[in-house]
Amino acid sequence: MSPKPAQPEPVVRRAAVVGCGDISAQHFGAIETLDGVELAGVVDTDADRRAAASAEHGVPGYASLGELLAAGGIDVVHLCTPHNTHAPLAQEALARGVNVLTEKPVAHTLADAEALAEASRAAFAEHGTQLGVCFQNRYNAPVLALRELLDSGSLGRILGANATVMWHRTPEYYAARPWRATWAGSGGGLLMNQAIHTLDLLQWLVGPAVMVGGAASTRALAGAIEVEDTADLLLEHTTADGGRVRSVFYATNANGINAPVTLDIVTEGAALSLRGELTVRYADGRVDVIAEAGVLAGERSYWGASHRLLIADFYASLGAERPFWIGAEEATAALRLIKDVYASSYAPGNWV
Ligand SMILES: NC(=O)c1ccc[n+]([C@@H]2O[C@H](COP(=O)([O-])OP(=O)(O)OC[C@H]3O[C@@H](n4cnc5c(N)ncnc54)[C@H](O)[C@@H]3O)[C@@H](O)[C@H]2O)c1
Repeated sequence: MSPKPAQPEPVVRRAAVVGCGDISAQHFGAIETLDGVELAGVVDTDADRRAAASAEHGVPGYASLGELLAAGGIDVVHLCTPHNTHAPLAQEALARGVNVLTEKPVAHTLADAEALAEASRAAFAEHGTQLGVCFQNRYNAPVLALRELLDSGSLGRILGANATVMWHRTPEYYAARPWRATWAGSGGGLLMNQAIHTLDLLQWLVGPAVMVGGAASTRALAGAIEVEDTADLLLEHTTADGGRVRSVFYATNANGINAPVTLDIVTEGAALSLRGELTVRYADGRVDVIAEAGVLAGERSYWGASHRLLIADFYASLGAERPFWIGAEEATAALRLIKDVYASSYAPGNWV
């Protein structure tokens, strides 16, 4: 009898988390639960956070991405650092052939985002190196259901849309992480840090958009932050069938509570309403509700609970023939709208 053919060794991807602050818990949690992914290191420029993360996860801690990459053996870096570091750190990792999953926004300036999109195109073409951006709300079950309904063509043409992000941020939230309050650290305020997810969803669901009008301003947090806490936009989208529709968008960090994000799309056949869950009211009177899945106790549900889904999908894309679907270029679309709002609101300056 011939010997049993040897089973191929399962592939294990070695991951590192760069930046061990607030959002890193989502990444550590996902890495822990994924088969074939092993945490191999943590990086933080802050010695206390580095030591705490290294001790908690039982892996070596490094003071810089450069040190981690020099030690070798890393397949994926998760960038959970301030906005102004995303593009330079991603470029550094890509140059070493290491896959990058970065938190949003893809970069804090448009020039950095465009240069990164170019570098990531080249890295994928030459070495198959992947770059992904955490727009995890695209993985929320009601959002996916909404996109499927629109794609099915059964609802007729899109007629219009609106969205709101009405959250609450205190001066202490910014004082605890001063980079969030500055143009230099964050590249913007409410739009760059919070509302960017919903601008991404609006474009993904309705179609690519240009800004028709918009304004950003600092209301409740004036004096505490340099960046904006409120913005309103009128957008014009090109829909999948080549039509043009408008959407209205309002976002603020000056609301008394963290209210659920709202997103409404009106089509010829239905009114679709996202409030966490999706409610579809058909023209013939039927009503369907698609519940939000996977919101875990203690998680900030208004962030969306889909980090794990996106991270799993990113790992599944390693070695694939196509670049990860939410790459640098895809993620730059929302950034472009944000920079257009700043351009219409502020004299040329440090918002660029
Ligand atoms: N996807 C989401 O829903 C979501 C939610 C919250 C935050 N975020 C994003 O996550 C990122 C981090 O946000 P946060 O609130 O966790 O910030 P944070 O300030 O709590 O954590 C950032 C960490 O990065 C470290 N750091 C700074 N520069 C570094 C460098 N060059 N190399 C290594 N470490 C460095 C800091 O010391 C800090 O520990 C931001 O891009 C933010 O927008 C995304």
